[in-house]
Amino acid sequence: MSRDVTLLWALRSPCAFACPHCYFGTIEEHKTAPPDRAGVLSHLARTDLSLAALTAFARTLPGSDVQRVVIAGGEPLDWPGALEVVALIKDAGCEVVIATNGIPLTRPQVTERLVDLGVDGVSVSLDHADPEVNDRMRPSRSGRFGYHDVLAGIGALRRARGSRRAPRIGIYTVVTREHPQAITEMAALAAESGVDYYVPQPISLPPDHALAARMCHTPGDVAAVGAHLDRLYRHPQGLALPDSSYVHRFLASISTQDSGKVPGCFGGARLFFIQPDGSLWDCPSDRRIAATPPERRRSIRGADARDLFADRPPCTDCMLFSRDCVNMWPLMGMPRLLDVEVAR
Ligand SMILES: C[S@@+](CC[C@H](N)C(=O)[O-])C[C@H]1O[C@@H](n2cnc3c(N)ncnc32)[C@H](O)[C@@H]1O
Repeated sequence: MSRDVTLLWALRSPCAFACPHCYFGTIEEHKTAPPDRAGVLSHLARTDLSLAALTAFARTLPGSDVQRVVIAGGEPLDWPGALEVVALIKDAGCEVVIATNGIPLTRPQVTERLVDLGVDGVSVSLDHADPEVNDRMRPSRSGRFGYHDVLAGIGALRRARGSRRAPRIGIYTVVTREHPQAITEMAALAAESGVDYYVPQPISLPPDHALAARMCHTPGDVAAVGAHLDRLYRHPQGLALPDSSYVHRFLASISTQDSGKVPGCFGGARLFFIQPDGSLWDCPSDRRIAATPPERRRSIRGADARDLFADRPPCTDCMLFSRDCVNMWPLMGMPRLLDVEVAR
């Protein structure tokens, strides 16, 4: 087998933000009804693996088929152990991209360390060009941080990077049906902020989520979303974007009713998802996790990456396409986002 595995690794559960649409749900709802189904994420962090368990697994990456690790969470950079894990992953010769809410980048010791470690990419989440709308979508728990701090964090990371190429810096934007114009407005903000790549991604919520009707796209939104994606790809403003097939996938995910086929899906062949409790899944899609039989459940706890990914099936057609899937293509297309030389 070749070294071609991408891990999306949700390292730790806690986050200083309380985005009501977050994949991790909200602390308020989980305090009264803690999740009891496999694969359900929670910021409550009752079962997060210890630093010792995480570093033990990271030490098994050299010589494994893992090529790239995308570290997410929760907020990875608020947890001091994260950079210890990242250092081990870099020592293993893997590419590392970190997804962050951006606030930790305002701390010089964090930005300097990211540069020193040679982290390849830092994807910063920001959902709207209007500070008030953004901070309603992405409220910090303390109410003390928001939009302006995130932009300050991006500026601080750019300064710490100086003339070096890495880390490449990107903005990730969750697009809802309320704000299709965020696709192009955030591109303008990203270009103005001097970042290197930009990924607008469709919101993904289970159909019974309280915000699904308000936020999730419907087939009636395809025209507006398509027009903004078209403008974005015609005028990328020097930003690296996911390859153009992403437009088709984005629109397919909102024009079908969460069904369909993914030909030659990389889930379980070249992409895997690790939950903070160590559970290892073929991909983070709700539908794929729900379809995993108990005997196929695996964990990184006490496991060796050289064994876990040694015996992989080839990419096969998956019949479980959903809007959850769309966000996986930019992860698999990271080289394009990180390598494209930005000419302004
Ligand atoms: C869960 S966060 C974790 C990393 C980090 N704390 C951050 O804010 O980027 C990873 C990414 O998932 C996005 N996200 C969270 N919930 C989502 C949802 N329901 N649909 C689509 N994207 C979502 C976030 O906006 C962020 O870009």
